[in-house]
Amino acid sequence: MKPAICLEGVSKKYDQIVALRDASFTVSKGEVFGIVGPSGAGKSTILRIVDLLEAPTEGKLLIDGQYVVANSVRAEAVRRKIGMVLQKPVVLNRSVANNLGYSLMIRGWNEDRIAEVVDAELRRLGLNGRRKTNARNLSGGEMQRLCFARAAIHDPSILLLDEFAANLDPTNVALLENQVQEFIRKDPNRTVVIVTHNMFQAKRMCTRIALIWDGEIVEIADRKKFFESPDDARTAAFVGGESIY
Ligand SMILES: Nc1ncnc2c1ncn2[C@@H]1O[C@H](COP(=O)(O)OP(=O)(O)OP(=O)(O)O)[C@@H](O)[C@H]1O
Ligand SMILES: [Mg+2]
Repeated sequence: MKPAICLEGVSKKYDQIVALRDASFTVSKGEVFGIVGPSGAGKSTILRIVDLLEAPTEGKLLIDGQYVVANSVRAEAVRRKIGMVLQKPVVLNRSVANNLGYSLMIRGWNEDRIAEVVDAELRRLGLNGRRKTNARNLSGGEMQRLCFARAAIHDPSILLLDEFAANLDPTNVALLENQVQEFIRKDPNRTVVIVTHNMFQAKRMCTRIALIWDGEIVEIADRKKFFESPDDARTAAFVGGESIY
């Protein structure tokens, strides 16, 4: 399959902190790629770099086979192909429907089409009864559904999900996981990257998984190998739930 995302020797430093060290890997179209690892390991940093929200300190990023630099003119066009659910949800101080419509409006969609797509999305995610509610007043689970809908509503080819179903009841977890599976099934050129602390979710959803530890990629393996016979002792310890400190 063709590469969707490629990191070449990517590092990210925040002053003295090295959040990511020389990360190189490729995610192909059609994959649901998982990133797991301890808190502070650098998982969200990878997603922010791929979403072009932050530039690497060193190294390069390719999207769909082309180099792209954050904050460049081309980055804006590339970002339109990407949808991201942030670990800490940020919503506009507007209605739920407006939050969804806004991301289509800035992409130049016409009003009738926006109304139609927003309506369908609200129904799909069980948020129709909340369409006029200020998004800031939603419950945690409603907010996560809104954030998912907002990330996927413009038909991106790459979906980046940072703890998109954390702290949710099983029904809502299933609802969101089904949305991801439907997203990837609809088009073989689509790609999903999931950052999760939930090993069961990684096992259910991901075709390949990376373990990141203290800013370094320790191991990348397909699902079966990752969980059943990993090469690195740290992977075995991590998936086995052993103490890592
Ligand atoms: N803007 C920033 N300024 C300074 N340090 C940062 C910044 N963003 C991240 N870091 C640091 O970089 C490291 C990696 O952060 P990151 O958010 O990628 O971790 P994570 O693996 O997503 O953790 P968690 O599972 O807790 O979400 C952490 O030590 C964090 O404190
Ligand atoms: Mg994080």
